[in-house]
Amino acid sequence: MIQIGNKKINTNIFLAPLSASSDLAFRLIAREQGAKFCFFEMIDSNSLVYGSPRSERILQTCPEDQPIAAQILGADPEIMLKAAELILNRAPITFLDINAACPVRKVCKKGAGAYFLNNPAPLVRVIERLSSTLSIPITVKMRVGLNQVDIPSAVQFAKSCESSGASALFVHGRSQSQENVGPVNYEAIRAIKESVEIPVFGSGNILNPPLAKKMFDETRCDGILIAKGSFGNPSIYRDIETYLATGTWHPAIELREKLKFLKKHLLLVQQIKGPHAICHIGELAKICLWYLKGFSSSSRMRAQIFKSQNNQELLAQIESIMGDDLSGEISPCAEKI
Ligand SMILES: Cc1cc2nc3c(=O)[nH]c(=O)nc-3n(C[C@H](O)[C@H](O)[C@H](O)COP(=O)(O)O)c2cc1C
Repeated sequence: MIQIGNKKINTNIFLAPLSASSDLAFRLIAREQGAKFCFFEMIDSNSLVYGSPRSERILQTCPEDQPIAAQILGADPEIMLKAAELILNRAPITFLDINAACPVRKVCKKGAGAYFLNNPAPLVRVIERLSSTLSIPITVKMRVGLNQVDIPSAVQFAKSCESSGASALFVHGRSQSQENVGPVNYEAIRAIKESVEIPVFGSGNILNPPLAKKMFDETRCDGILIAKGSFGNPSIYRDIETYLATGTWHPAIELREKLKFLKKHLLLVQQIKGPHAICHIGELAKICLWYLKGFSSSSRMRAQIFKSQNNQELLAQIESIMGDDLSGEISPCAEKI
């Protein structure tokens, strides 16, 4: 249980915002396997306000897809407010997060995303405008540096967010230049946790239950965000809860089990997009690769799967692989601690 502003949430383990990844099908399978709180994919405030169909698609949801938060990107307080109002009209969200973490150059050039670390004044105006106008809590997702980790600046930034009205901070323990890979600076997250009163969530390298515990232990954070660790691994939330409660975890998983999850995921994609919708095969292949990673016959399976032209052919290929003798196909502990 955690409190963000006036909202109580029954978990402190959230699915992170993941652009081009954590769509409705992704969230539904995660929820079925134990995720209790999810983010929509990030929404660009300009695209939403000026009517891009992609932003509309991002907001696709259903009653089982609750509770949920949204994250918006942008730097103009009035456009951000308009985008927030459009989201609130479309989906019941628990809180709204402002992206101050996106490392993409095009975004930073416009003075948004991770660039706010360099120039927090516009972010402060956005937080003030949104938190004083809307009834839902406003939060911020931030990094701990630009070209390199910079703990004093990150702490100062976190304090500015808090004093301008943010109700929680999601801290990705990497610099902008690290993007989403490389070592995580736990010390920076801990320094932020110790300098603010609002809840602080840690993000970065939470790929399995022991790494989740490491994040809590090293930073004393109030909660965690699961990102790459959820790719092809929808039961990670439940595994983390069990590990934190009992210290036990079974890192190995049989290929047959993974293929069952993959099949379910692809069926959800098909259900959501409709039986006749043309699914982009690259998008489907990406989902397959998440689930097949780490198995000895991955490359053979990949070759089979990449022959498919659409979701139905892909499902048939997976059925055919499931009919093979898969004994001994157990994934190793995918990530080192
Ligand atoms: C494919 C992908 C998309 C992401 N999209 C977003 C995003 O839209 N907004 C955001 O704040 N962070 C985004 N992130 C960053 C994650 O939320 C998370 O902070 C980061 O991946 C670190 O966690 P990890 O090392 O456990 O994956 C993304 C990361 C990945 C890998």
